[in-house]
Amino acid sequence: MKAVVGRASPSPELADRLAVPMRASVRHLAPYVAPEEGREGKLRLDFNENTIGCSPAVLRALRRITPEQLAIYPEYEAATRRIARHFSVRPAEMLFSNGVDDALRLIMDTFVESGSTVLIPEPTFSMYRFFAEIAGARIEAVPYDDSVRFPMDAILRALASSPRVLCLANPNNPTGTLLDRAALRRILDAAPRTLVLVDEAYFEFAGVTVLPWIRQRSNLIVSRTLSKAAGLAALRLGVLFAREDVADALRRACTPYPVSNAALIAAEAALSDRKFLSRYVREVLASRKDLARGLQKSGVRVFPSGANFLLVDFGPGGSELVRRLARRRILLRDRAGEFGRDGFVRITAGTRAQTRRLLRAIEEER
Ligand SMILES: Cc1ncc(COP(=O)(O)O)c(C=O)c1O
Repeated sequence: MKAVVGRASPSPELADRLAVPMRASVRHLAPYVAPEEGREGKLRLDFNENTIGCSPAVLRALRRITPEQLAIYPEYEAATRRIARHFSVRPAEMLFSNGVDDALRLIMDTFVESGSTVLIPEPTFSMYRFFAEIAGARIEAVPYDDSVRFPMDAILRALASSPRVLCLANPNNPTGTLLDRAALRRILDAAPRTLVLVDEAYFEFAGVTVLPWIRQRSNLIVSRTLSKAAGLAALRLGVLFAREDVADALRRACTPYPVSNAALIAAEAALSDRKFLSRYVREVLASRKDLARGLQKSGVRVFPSGANFLLVDFGPGGSELVRRLARRRILLRDRAGEFGRDGFVRITAGTRAQTRRLLRAIEEER
């Protein structure tokens, strides 16, 4: 596995080789360094994916796709109606996106102008900063404190100057921090002129949601994804929820066909198999508990998490441990870079059997 997954350092010479200048906000960015290929077959505890694969109902639905369905441009109306019903929202309050990643681009394209301020508590999902930077935003990053606690007071203070957008993952990646509804209400109340994205990518594992609030609040967008609990990361399907007028604004900047027919068919099948989802979530929550207990017993610091992963601090030697486990085909995500010191690692909780395998390997390698 490559030591670094994220952004490589920018290469200024590229600008000199191009016939046409890049947009100023892109010039200083570096290409994304994806994790090494070949994760298939390994114990993948590095990307918070579903570790057993999607519901068999999804595969059945995909096998039924006809050549005609692939030949025509996607039609969204009927699927939107059904999926909106699943989430108890009106179709006009919902938009599909090519993963939450692309939803972030849409939000920035719609609401952020060059020089607008985007407020981001960090560390968090790196794509918030990425798309805000491309849009030319001024990033106001508010750091988590040394105990890895959400910086509530600093966020409330920053909201007083009305940044254009606040990006909030709840639960947060990579810390696992979960804000309750009272905390989210305080934030939204303090943000009358700020669009607050509450990214609920890990909602299924946390059970906390502000989705029902979209109707009363014109400063709220909620995002969900089929990439995590539902196990459809490869198909790329995100869903955005917002009050009708906010959703209308987003539709103005949206491409006509943001998601494929196959992704929609798979998503409907995945959402319909509630039993599979709830069984998987229960398994992961039990496994997360085992993982936390097992690590704490051997003296590893574990941070509270509302998601399908744990942030842990192995102390010095954490990065080396991640490399050794990778050689044993167990992938974890080294987060030393984000925290400024060796030891911080993010570990996806899969099944209890996968956690047992991991704990055994950690014991042998530490
Ligand atoms: C908080 C958060 N939001 C969004 C995503 C990406 O979602 P998608 O696969 O739908 O682009 C991730 C993936 O790691 C995430 O951690």
